[in-house]
Amino acid sequence: MSKYRIGLFGFGCVGQGLYETLEKNIQLPADIVKICVKDPDKERPLAADAFVYDPKEILNDDTINLVVELIDDADKAFDIVQEALKRGKPVVSANKKMVAENLDRLIELQQIHRTPVLYEGAVCGSIPVIKTLEDYYSLEQIREIKGIFNGSTNYILTKVIEENKSYDEALEAAQANGFAETDPTLDVEGYDPKYKLSIVLQHAFGIHVHPDQIFNQGIQNITRADIAFARERGLKIKLLAKATRYEDRISAFVAPHFVSRESPLYHVENEYNAVLVNGDFANEQLLVGKGAGKLPTGLAVLSDVASITQDYQYILNREASDLSHSSTTEEVYVSFKSDETLDFSMFHVISEKYVGQQSGYVIGEIDIPALKTLLKDSSANVIFTSGARAETEIHKLTYSYEIG
Ligand SMILES: NC(=O)c1ccc[n+]([C@@H]2O[C@H](COP(=O)([O-])OP(=O)(O)OC[C@H]3O[C@@H](n4cnc5c(N)ncnc54)[C@H](OP(=O)(O)O)[C@@H]3O)[C@@H](O)[C@H]2O)c1
Repeated sequence: MSKYRIGLFGFGCVGQGLYETLEKNIQLPADIVKICVKDPDKERPLAADAFVYDPKEILNDDTINLVVELIDDADKAFDIVQEALKRGKPVVSANKKMVAENLDRLIELQQIHRTPVLYEGAVCGSIPVIKTLEDYYSLEQIREIKGIFNGSTNYILTKVIEENKSYDEALEAAQANGFAETDPTLDVEGYDPKYKLSIVLQHAFGIHVHPDQIFNQGIQNITRADIAFARERGLKIKLLAKATRYEDRISAFVAPHFVSRESPLYHVENEYNAVLVNGDFANEQLLVGKGAGKLPTGLAVLSDVASITQDYQYILNREASDLSHSSTTEEVYVSFKSDETLDFSMFHVISEKYVGQQSGYVIGEIDIPALKTLLKDSSANVIFTSGARAETEIHKLTYSYEIG
């Protein structure tokens, strides 16, 4: 009998991915013994007696000593995880929203109950981000971490920009391939990468910033005019999550960026994710991989299961950090319909302005809270040029718009 008896919550895309990857790794001392799902009427690829519908059947079962939570409901997931920890059952989860919104409490519960929670699958699918930050980078002073943290938006941008597909066609294809979240607004409006960034901030810099405090703009307002603007200048548009350290403070946000050919992120296409870490000792390192999907994410979850069988836990050993999260001034391109009135006095500097018959744009420097106000209730779009200050520190990695 396996030493680890898994109670699995959720048997959708990732749950089935875990099942399949575990089946092919019979040497791992872990078996799935019960699967809790929601809908008793749904057809399943396994016999009906593999499934239960009441979470208590797993949580109250003393023979189950590992809970894997892979459901698509963050609030229910948090209830399940809390109950499991209180009962001394280690937890593996891939639920970025649940982890990001409750990280302080999860850390506290792990300490109180001396029971670990691992969540590699929650951040960039199969790319080993959390463990790499925890283990390999534990002695590194990270200056910046940024990247393409969402597979479905990168897939949509690739199809729209490179293959001239319509936005709706591209979104449909992302959903059909299992890259998109059940609720696609989480992807396209930039919430999903923001949850991941919030988790990364904890492991890279030792600070927890609740996702509500992180600015996010997604790809939903990108227009054909924006794409043409980028194309004419040899740029691509990528949705980036980015956290930068400035002495004692961290700036963090999610937004579309113009990216030039010189950036390694320019070449990351389709559902691939990429994480670019820049530290004092190692300088730049790029991790690239499939950020979503059944088997890649299943593998990340399986890797956490293996880690639990080896008594691994996150050390979270960044020194008690004095860093604080604060917003910065960024250089941005804002595009808008010609008949829309925007308050451009919010910009510190406007370096370029164009208003055509149907649409226009400005390029200038603005504080992030002011940008948030500017965009509120507007169909205007913003694309970051990456910011001149970051540019001087992180040479050539990102595009800095040169005013002609
Ligand atoms: N898809 C990806 O590529 C990916 C990548 C990284 C992380 N994740 C994360 O992994 C988690 C699962 O995503 P998914 O794509 O596998 O979702 P999914 O395909 O929509 O499957 C969700 C599963 O959760 C079950 N479920 C929902 N509410 C439940 C409840 N209250 N009690 C028990 N079971 C419940 C559903 O049951 P029924 O089958 O009865 O409907 C279904 O089996 C999410 O947190 C997601 O953010 C997904």
